[in-house]
Amino acid sequence: MKTEQIDKLNQELAGKSAEEILSAVIREFGSALCFSTSLGAEDQVITAMLADIDKTVRVFTLDTGRMFPESYELLHRTVNRYGMDFKVYFPDAAQVETMVNSKGINLFYESVENRKACCHIRKIEPLQRALKGYDAWITGLRRQQSVTRNDMKIVEWDAINQLIKINPLIEWTETEVWDYIKQKNVPYNSLHDKGFPSIGCQPCTRAIEPGEDVRAGRWWWELPESKECGLHAKK
Ligand code: ADX
Ligand code: SF4
Repeated sequence: MKTEQIDKLNQELAGKSAEEILSAVIREFGSALCFSTSLGAEDQVITAMLADIDKTVRVFTLDTGRMFPESYELLHRTVNRYGMDFKVYFPDAAQVETMVNSKGINLFYESVENRKACCHIRKIEPLQRALKGYDAWITGLRRQQSVTRNDMKIVEWDAINQLIKINPLIEWTETEVWDYIKQKNVPYNSLHDKGFPSIGCQPCTRAIEPGEDVRAGRWWWELPESKECGLHAKK
């Protein structure tokens, strides 16, 4: 764990804008830095900022094979708009075949255990491959998104993946995200206009009703405490 470097960065970056945070970590980590985008509203803000600051930052997305058509369309639009090189990682085909053929195509509705197994094969293992060789990764996490994200910092140690995690929008509100998107005409998922504030895989995401929590539509059949896919789990 790189405690000293993390503490130093958190002190330097406290109160700084997201752009300043991104510029500072690009200077600090150079080509050992990457950005993991789900193409969610927060990630689109970060992509737009990186396109202005440094288009060479490595960007990747995890295609679980169960995404919404609207998410693929947005990936296409985003790559065209910013001219950045997005690398797409897929799950291991043999592992998906074994899982689906033994537990069924929609195994995730049956138990938290099945849901976690699916997330592991379709997201966690590809993420581990994507992060290999990097010292730090950028995410679009915000503290307000979930009870599980309350105590997150701008820079933190990712004990599971053994590298530094940077959350430049950690303090942002949902309103700030949308103000930025509208102001800069940032491409966003058309599902956001249809009641989907947080978008993951198609079978595990539903629209929310007015007044519901922004993540209420993710794994809606589970309790709030278990509603993380493991990409951002703590050890
Ligand atoms: S999740 O854990 O519930 O799926 P969420 O959708 O809130 O995560 O996204 C949080 C951050 O995790 C995103 O800003 C992004 O950095 C990363 N992330 C989530 N899903 C993906 C994905 N499919 N591909 C790449 N990064 C992802
Ligand atoms: Fe599987 Fe649903 Fe997790 Fe996607 S969100 S990997 S479909 S359990």
